[in-house]
Amino acid sequence: MPTPIKIASRLDPIKPSITLAVTAKAAKLKADGIDIISFGAGEPDFDTPDHIKDAARAALDKGVGKYTDTAGILPLRKAIAAELSAVHKVSIEPDQVLVSTGAKHSLYNLFMALLDPGDEVLIPAPYWVSYPDMVMLAGGRPIILETKAENDFAVTAQQVAAACSGRTRAIVLNNPSNPTGAVYTRAQIEALAKVVVEKDLLVISDDIYRQLVYGDAEYVSIAAVNPEVGKRTVLVDGVSKTYAMTGWRIGYTAGPLNLIKAMNKIQGQSTSNPTHISQIAALAALTGPQDCIATMRKAFDERRIEMVKLLRAIPNVTCREPKGAFYAFPDLSAYIGKKSAEGSILDDDVQLCDWLVEVGKVAVVPGSGFGAPGFVRLSYACSMKNIQEGVGRLSRALQTLR
Ligand SMILES: Cc1ncc(COP(=O)(O)O)c(C=O)c1O
Repeated sequence: MPTPIKIASRLDPIKPSITLAVTAKAAKLKADGIDIISFGAGEPDFDTPDHIKDAARAALDKGVGKYTDTAGILPLRKAIAAELSAVHKVSIEPDQVLVSTGAKHSLYNLFMALLDPGDEVLIPAPYWVSYPDMVMLAGGRPIILETKAENDFAVTAQQVAAACSGRTRAIVLNNPSNPTGAVYTRAQIEALAKVVVEKDLLVISDDIYRQLVYGDAEYVSIAAVNPEVGKRTVLVDGVSKTYAMTGWRIGYTAGPLNLIKAMNKIQGQSTSNPTHISQIAALAALTGPQDCIATMRKAFDERRIEMVKLLRAIPNVTCREPKGAFYAFPDLSAYIGKKSAEGSILDDDVQLCDWLVEVGKVAVVPGSGFGAPGFVRLSYACSMKNIQEGVGRLSRALQTLR
C-alpha cells in the first residue's frame, strides 16, 4: 500500500469542525497543566438530571443493551411524536420519527437522503459549523445567505425568495441560533413561512435550543404557522442541550414518511440503532419531570446577562443581546489586524483566537467557522466564576493589542 493513502475526493471541500478543534486545543493545554478558561464547548456544564440517570441504571439492571429497531424503540418514538405534535401543531405518527446518534447524525442522514448532486440548500449565516460541510458531503451546494448583526442576524423572506433557483430544495432554520443566540420573532417566522410555500421549499427546522429562550423572547414554530408549512417541515430536535445529555448522543427527526424511511435506510446500513441505554434515558427525559429545564434555563439566563454586560464593557466590542441557546457572539473586528506585544500581527479571527488561547489563556471560537469573520462565539454554559474570570482575561488581552 502506498503511504499516505489516497483519500476520497468528496472530502476535499470538507473542513474539520472548528468548535471541536478549539475545545480539543483548550483541553490539551489544560491537560498539560496550563490554566485555560474555555468558552468553546457547546454543552451545558450541568450533570444529567438524577431521574434520567436512575432510569438508565434501572434499565441496565434489567438487561437493556441489545440491538433495537433501527429507528429507535417504539415507546421513545411515541413520546417524541406526542411532544413534537403538541409543540408544532402537526400530527406526527411514531413511524414518522427516526431516532439517531445525536441531532448531528439526524442532520447528516437527512442531507444524505434528500440531496442529489448539485441540489441547493439555503443556509443563513452565521450558521452552525456543520451545515455547509454536511450538505457538501451529501453532494449538495450550500447557498449562504448573509444576515446583519443590526437585524439580529435574521434572514428575511426577500433574501430567501431572491436566492431560490431551480435547484433549491430546502432552507435550514436554526431557531434559536447557534452561534448568535438570535430568536426569530413571530412576524419574521410568518414572513418566512409564506415564502417557503411560494417557493416550494422544505424547511429543515433545527430546534435543538427551542426550550432555551430568555426574557420576553418566545420560540415560534414555523411548522405551526399553517398546515401547508407543517407538511413541508422536517423537525430536528434532541435531548443533548435541553437535558444536559450531550454525551448520551440521542437526537431525532420527524417529518414526511418517505423521507424518514429513506433516512432509516441510510441509518440501517451505517450505524443501526442509537445506543439502547441512551434511548431509555431519553425516554425518561421526555416523559419524566420537566422542572430540571426551568432550573437550568434560569442559571443560563443569569450567566447570559453577566456575560453580555462584561463583553459590552470591553472597549470597541459590540455584542447583540442573545435571546436563546447559550452563546454570546460579540464583534471583535476592531482588534483584527493589530499587533501583539510579542510582535505578531493578528490578521484574522482565527489568528486572534489562537493568540487569545496561547497568550490570554482564554478559548473562544472564531466566527469565520460560522460564516461570520470578525466575530467570536463564547458559550455561557459554564460557571459564573469562569465567566467573570474568562471575560476579564479576554478584555485584558485585547487591550494589550496595538
Ligand atoms: C444548532 C445545532 N444543531 C445540532 C446540534 C447537534 O447536537 P447533538 O448531536 O449533540 O444532538 C448542535 C450541537 O452543537 C447544534 O448546536
